[in-house]
Order: sequence, then C-alpha cells, then structure tokens
Amino acid sequence: MEKFVINGGNKLSGEVSISGAKNSVVAILPATLLAQGVCRIENIPNISDVTYMLKMLKSMGASIKAVNANTYEIDTRTVSSFTVPYELTRHLRASYYLLGALLGRCNSARVAMPGGCNFGGVRPIDQHLKGFEMLGASITMEENAIVNARAETLVGNSIYMDVVSVGATVNIMLAAVKARGLTVIENAAKEPHIVDLANFLNSMGADIRGAGTDVIKIRGVSFLHGCDYSIIPDQIEAGTYMAAVAATGGDVLIKNVVPKHLESISAKLIEAGVQVIEYDDSVRVISSGKLQKCNIKTMPHPGFPTDMQPQMSVALCLAQGTSIVSEGVWDNRFKYVDQLSRMGADIEVNGKVAVITGVDHLSGAPVKADDLRAGAAMIIAGLIARGRTEIESIIYIDRGYENVVEKFSAIGADIQRVEFPDEPAGVVRTA
Ligand code: EPU
Repeated sequence: MEKFVINGGNKLSGEVSISGAKNSVVAILPATLLAQGVCRIENIPNISDVTYMLKMLKSMGASIKAVNANTYEIDTRTVSSFTVPYELTRHLRASYYLLGALLGRCNSARVAMPGGCNFGGVRPIDQHLKGFEMLGASITMEENAIVNARAETLVGNSIYMDVVSVGATVNIMLAAVKARGLTVIENAAKEPHIVDLANFLNSMGADIRGAGTDVIKIRGVSFLHGCDYSIIPDQIEAGTYMAAVAATGGDVLIKNVVPKHLESISAKLIEAGVQVIEYDDSVRVISSGKLQKCNIKTMPHPGFPTDMQPQMSVALCLAQGTSIVSEGVWDNRFKYVDQLSRMGADIEVNGKVAVITGVDHLSGAPVKADDLRAGAAMIIAGLIARGRTEIESIIYIDRGYENVVEKFSAIGADIQRVEFPDEPAGVVRTA
C-alpha cells in the first residue's frame, strides 16, 4: 500500500505542465471500437483509469501499441467480444461507455455496471438507457448487474435529456454515430470533453454538429475510419494546480492548458484576490496565500465545475470571512469535509451547502482520499497545513492525476509517495 506524506508550509513557484484530460480519454478510448482502422492517439495521461480502460479493450481483443508513454496506436478491428465482466468494469465509472460504443459498433453490448468514485449516493444511468431505447435498443438487466442492450438496427431519434448528463451525452453520441438517420440530443452536456469526443469522432468520419451547445445533431454514417488525434488538456488537473497555488501562495506558470476552459475557475480565484494572467496556452497564477471569502455554486459547464468544488473549498478554509459553497450537480459531495474538520477547518455542511469560515491555520493530520477530487483536496490541505499530513487511499488520486508527486515537487511542495505495509489481519483500530 502507498500513501502521500506532505510537510506543509511551502509556497509554490515555477512551471507545471498539464496532461491530457481524463474525462476525454475515458470516452475516446471506447470510441475507438467504432473505427475500422488504426487510431493513433497522443497526449494520453498516464493514469490508472487509462490503464484499466486499455486493459478492457485488450481483453476484448483490441491490439494496442504504446508508441511512447503518452501515445498509443489502437486497432479494434480484431475485437470479437461484446461482453465486459465486472472484474474489469469495477475499476472505473466510465467503463459504461463501452455500452454505447459496443451498441454503435455491433448493435449488442453486455456490460457489468461499473465501479469508480462514489460520492456516497447513487449514480443513476437512467438517461443513458433512455437514450439507447429511443435509438431502438431493448435493455434488460441480467444477474450480477449486467446491462444487456440489443437492437436489430439503431435508428436516429430526437432525445430530450431530463437532466444535463455528461455520461448520457457521451453514451448516446457513441451509440448514434453509426445509427440510421438523424439523432438530435437536446439539453446535452457542454463540457470540453464532449466537444473533444465529437472532434475525435468527426476525424474518424462522423457527422456531428453542435457539440459544446445544448443541442447536438448526429447524422449517422455507415463507416468510420482510423485517425490521428491528440487529447485536450485536463481542465480539472489545471484547476487543481491553480487552487493549490492560490491556497499556498506563490507564482506558478501552468502550461498546456486551454484558458477558455478555465474561465469559471479563474473568475472565482480572481474574486478571492488571486492574480490570474492568461496566455495562449498557459495561465500564470500569483497569490499571496491570503484569500478573501467567495461564494461558489457548482453547475454543468460553463458553470463552476463540481470536480473543482473540494479543491476550492480547501483553499477557502484559510480565507478572510465566510464563504458559501453550494453543490449543484451531485447530492452528496461533501464527505471529505470530516477530514478537513480534523485538520482544524471550520465548515458546516447542511445538505448540498457548505458554510466555510476562514481559520488562522490548518494542522497536519492522517487523512484519506474519499474519492479522486476529495483526494486532490487533501493534497492541497496538506500543502497549507502546519506540520505533516499523511494521505491514505491514494489509489483514487492515481486514477486521475499523472505524476502528481513529481509535478508538485517540481514547484516546491514537500510531498512524497511512501510505501507502508498492509495492516496484519486481526489488528483492531480504535478511534
Ligand atoms: N444523472 C441522472 N441520470 C443519469 C445520469 C446522471 O440523474 O442517467 C444525474 C447524476 O446523478 C448527477 C447529474 O446527473 O446528479 C450529473 O451527472 P453526469 O452524468 O453528468 O456525471 P457523470 O457522467 O457520471 C462526469 C464526470 C464526473 C463529473 C460529472 C459532472 C466522467 C468520466 N466523469 O460524470 O467526473 O463529476 O460528469 O461534471 O466524465 C471526476 O472527474 O472526478 C468526476 C467524478
């Protein structure tokens, strides 16, 4: 087992380069199932979600060649299976994109309901299934939570989404791209990774328009070829480093970003008293480390991203005044607050609202990563705390942050990855 050990108090300075977007790549890798040719994909982050997704494609018969650490050539013409068992899907939420991709490829998919980050509540997929059904698929649930989706032929349709869902938008795009006729997704998600997936599919020969707006039109094509593609930079990884610099104080150039994707994050940091300077493909963040209160409400893109809520909440723990953070996407995304309270934060949670009153300092403590972004928040908490913080359950952080220790160390953080032995059976932990 591994944990992160952080000695807090260092200001951050220098440069950090952002990797390819996790939430793009976990949609684009399954999309290669639709190509009758080789897809060469660059800027793939070296994170465990990618490792598991590649493993799933390989187990289905895909041929995968690593050109270098961040570039792969994927040929799915040899895939013969349309069943994906729980042993494989349990590692990541996005394995449900194999449902849409397999349906789109061969009108049949049997995929076990996935694992992934759990914010303490249910993560429904009713909108995904509704979309498949509206394209003509019939859905049955088999034993062991396997979703079986089948169609004679998929036929385009007009699909109105009852909630704005990234996952359902992706899955419907994947299923519809080779369906007969026109599919219109209304009330679609607009996140940068939706646009990235549409660009990827279009470079394979698809006909998708409107991605990035709330109406996406997909005219089905009969053939998709291989392509060369490069994944966009990770908006949330960039935002995490921005929040970290804001919280610790310092001056860091964050490279390989699309500043437009960061606008909602930059706006809130500026409101809190941080200087954010935008360049073509980088942003410079300069902070005294003494932030002002600010209120945040998370919303689907272009609103403030829910995946930045925990990191920003940590930064606000030491701000002057009281900040109100409202979670507008997930029902239960404040689980991590208990860990912060143990470090001395003053946060009261009431349902989907957290009231954060700035305190003088946080104190290092043993904590754990409850999920990917909660884990990122714990890193920032460790960086600003007095003394030593140890973070357990870092497998969640490794799901989505490439070289996180190396990147933070290079800008001045005192952070290490340390191995520790599994607890022997029979040891009882007391409170
Ligand atoms: N929802 C439904 N029915 C559905 C699908 C979603 O009611 O069929 C609800 C959810 O319960 C939630 C809201 O709609 O309240 C939004 O969920 P969405 O489907 O957009 O989330 P997702 O696709 O499961 C992706 C990201 C998450 C990110 C959310 C919101 C990926 C692989 N995951 O999840 O990212 O929080 O969109 O932006 O793209 C992360 O990166 O840490 C992460 C959790």
